[in-house]
Amino acid sequence: MSKERLLTGLQPSGALTIGNYIGGVKRLLKYQDEYDTFLFVPDMHAITVTQDPALLHKRIKELVAIYLAVGIDPKKVHLYIQSENLYHANLSWILECHSYFGEMSRMHQFKEKSKNHENFTCGLFTYPALMAADILLYDAKYVPTGADQKQHVELARNIADRFNSRYGKEYFVKPEPVIPEVGARIRDLQDPSKKMSKSTDNPKASVFMTDDEKSIRKKFASAVTDSDGKICFDEENKPGVSNLLTLYSVFTGLKIDEVVAKFQGSGYGDLKNEVANVVIDTMKPIQDKYKYYLESTEIDEALDEGREFTNKIAKEKYEIIRNVVGLGRN
Ligand code: TYM
Repeated sequence: MSKERLLTGLQPSGALTIGNYIGGVKRLLKYQDEYDTFLFVPDMHAITVTQDPALLHKRIKELVAIYLAVGIDPKKVHLYIQSENLYHANLSWILECHSYFGEMSRMHQFKEKSKNHENFTCGLFTYPALMAADILLYDAKYVPTGADQKQHVELARNIADRFNSRYGKEYFVKPEPVIPEVGARIRDLQDPSKKMSKSTDNPKASVFMTDDEKSIRKKFASAVTDSDGKICFDEENKPGVSNLLTLYSVFTGLKIDEVVAKFQGSGYGDLKNEVANVVIDTMKPIQDKYKYYLESTEIDEALDEGREFTNKIAKEKYEIIRNVVGLGRN
């Protein structure tokens, strides 16, 4: 029996945080053996906000080096760059024409990102249609992401449903979001009401996968907690401490209850120190491999192969959809 398809992507809009690692890439190590896995670089999503072109090229390569360094095996996983496959944008246009202004306006990410700008691009607004195209083009059944992307995957599901019922056949597979039970929303270390983000202005707020040992220690040491001094898991009233417990749980594989039990009687300083230790222990070997992959030819080899393979699949799907909606000659 052929394997079911699973797909995800991480934007090359900055160095990856440990939140991206947990919500977006770590889980793929398990999935790559179980599913027909597609992992791509959504570079077209990155230009919904202004980018420095030279830096964007660099970040695309760095992102693929991180994928490989984490242990993604290009023999098992189709690795590719979104913009090297023209069918993503083509299908996105068709899907935009099957989506409504109202539903796009309800997207949390758009509301959040447009809030502080007078001038935001149309691309920032229509971005979820492109994300739906990324998914629907490959009949992906499962889409593992952090909690922040769930609404976008649900939109893709709704668009697929609408399209299928309008044209009377299951043209698109309805994708399912796969959100981790623990670590779906790693929080900003300085403001635990927010998610940890790649594009933060506060250098102490996010821990990046490529941070050195000293800065990881410093960032955790200055993480915001609370004043009652008790170690217990309560995301609503103790978001900072709960975030640290979550990180310890995800990085060690211990359950939250076990982590809470382990730190009974300890102070916040011990907890912060231990979290820094497990993050450093996990990131150090990844960072070493990352340096190796950045200099290797393996990135281009994997991407060339991925481009060939995914272009064929995408073309087939796109041609069917183009014809169904009545575009061109049939
Ligand atoms: P992006 O690049 O913002 O984030 C990459 C992945 O990391 C997850 N994530 C988090 N998980 C836990 N805690 C956090 N603080 C945290 N911050 C981010 C995200 O949920 C994501 O899984 N639109 C997507 C990229 C994309 C995509 C797709 C994903 C484009 N097309 C198709 C899946 C399928 C994005 O901006 O992710």
